[in-house]
Amino acid sequence: MPHNLLSDTLIVLCWLLICWGSSAHALQFFTKVPEMVKLPPPRSEGHLSVESALALRRSVRSYSKQPLSLNELSQLLWAAQGINSQDIRRTAPSAGALYPLELYLVAGLTTDISPGVYRYASEQHSLNLFKESDLRRALSGAALNQECIAAAPACFVITGVYSRTAKKYGKRARRYVHLEAGHAAENILLQAVALKLGAVVVGAFDDQGVQRVLDLPTEHEPLLVIPVGFPPQRAEK
Ligand SMILES: Cc1cc2nc3c(=O)[nH]c(=O)nc-3n(C[C@H](O)[C@H](O)[C@H](O)COP(=O)(O)O)c2cc1C
Repeated sequence: MPHNLLSDTLIVLCWLLICWGSSAHALQFFTKVPEMVKLPPPRSEGHLSVESALALRRSVRSYSKQPLSLNELSQLLWAAQGINSQDIRRTAPSAGALYPLELYLVAGLTTDISPGVYRYASEQHSLNLFKESDLRRALSGAALNQECIAAAPACFVITGVYSRTAKKYGKRARRYVHLEAGHAAENILLQAVALKLGAVVVGAFDDQGVQRVLDLPTEHEPLLVIPVGFPPQRAEK
């Protein structure tokens, strides 16, 4: 190749690289912008009364291979920590409306989102990709190898940020944050019943192990893990 042609080709290539490098696509390629998943709006009416959901609720620890849809995840996330009023208050009560809970979804078998860890953004009703990998088995490892965590299509992880509540309530904050995790958890359990899903609250885990597996910020302390899925068909049991 003649010298001039070679240098011209190199200049054009550099120019193309610079143009591509400044485009949004290239930025995503290099910096891996976190994926945001807008959730479908939650329903505020269903087929089952609160009384029936209470009457039917039972801990379910094994699940069929049926994946969870984005509609089901949306409904469960909203039940736990969704916004239900103009003044951005939530489905679960919170001491002083300080909202110390952060909710994570560990997705494995879901129809509309890739396996990974997502953080729920209540005000946007969206999921933000936090870690891109199926971590159910590792999470189970941090919870005495409880099989329900590895087998569930998805697990919710309720974490608490004590300082948000402590700035107003001081020492009493720990109690309030734990109670709030219970409120959010029960909302998930009852919503699961209404969607014909099965779920269980898991409290037996190594706190630091869960933080390590999910790469949680240190102040997001794990309080409960809730595996959710469709109960097994009769033949599968
Ligand atoms: C704070 C708390 C922690 C729990 N931890 C676990 C757990 O680690 N693993 C598990 O399989 N079940 C766990 N459970 C579920 C209980 O075992 C279950 O609620 C109890 O056996 C009563 O059964 P039921 O939920 O079907 O009514 C926990 C429940 C609560 C309230």
